[in-house]
Amino acid sequence: MAAKILYGKEFAARIKEDAKKEALAIKEKSGVMPGLAVVIVGNDPASTVYVRNKQKACDELGLYSVKVEMPETATKEELLAKIDELNSDKKVHGILVQLPLPKALKDAEDEVLNRIDPRKDVDGFHPVNVGKLSVGDATLTPCTPTGVIRMLELSDINMDGAHAVVIGRSNIVGKPMANLLLQKNATVTVCHSHTKNLADITRTADIIVAAVGRPRFVTADMVKPGATVIDVGINRISQGEGKKAKLIGDVDFDNVKEVAGAITPVPGGVGLLTIAMLMQNTVTAAKDQLGL
Ligand code: GUN
Repeated sequence: MAAKILYGKEFAARIKEDAKKEALAIKEKSGVMPGLAVVIVGNDPASTVYVRNKQKACDELGLYSVKVEMPETATKEELLAKIDELNSDKKVHGILVQLPLPKALKDAEDEVLNRIDPRKDVDGFHPVNVGKLSVGDATLTPCTPTGVIRMLELSDINMDGAHAVVIGRSNIVGKPMANLLLQKNATVTVCHSHTKNLADITRTADIIVAAVGRPRFVTADMVKPGATVIDVGINRISQGEGKKAKLIGDVDFDNVKEVAGAITPVPGGVGLLTIAMLMQNTVTAAKDQLGL
């Protein structure tokens, strides 16, 4: 039987709708609308599109938003000074520094992310928030994996006691995904480039989350019939000079959908959840900062 396709659009709409209601309630109680600042350094084309979409989502929900554009030549000190300014700006409850930073600032990435006030860290990347997540006491958790959990919940896919296999161990997706699944009482296995007999492990999974960054890495023979397959991969495949790159996930969608019970497409799957969760995190951060 072909898998149920989990389209991100429906879930993102639901998450944004809830965040909007909560934002309006905050406004009514405190007179303040939740606000998000997005900082972009340089002009990476993919980052420019992401930042534009984040602004659009803020507008859609009526949230206050600020876009801070800094030139590719910005220094670490200038960027840190900007973060300090946003940390003390009462209208801003969430701060996101778009990654990747330009090459010259690559080594400063940790210092930059650590400078954000943890209460405004809507990415959930600050070590304080990473630590809170690992002890099960987090307010702000990374948007993409949190969106995946929401989608599984809204789809009535059981996590309690399920074997969840996360492929990839990045700080942005793999590790927080594993921790969040653990909190939902899943039995979690984290696999990565040094894992032996990967397919033997994935074939025992009730839920697979693929976040490896390799196109069509998860093939049908790696999936147990009826399993849920969540594809977090976004691989840009060049279609030649002047043509728009094609987006391909980490899962061989066409073949895996014949085996899986549920599956997310790329594009149109998990990607849309990230921005929706960013809106929710901004609202949550505002609530916390306003003492509501
Ligand atoms: N670049 C790609 N994904 C992300 C994300 O989730 N947060 C930030 N800050 N930058 C990104």
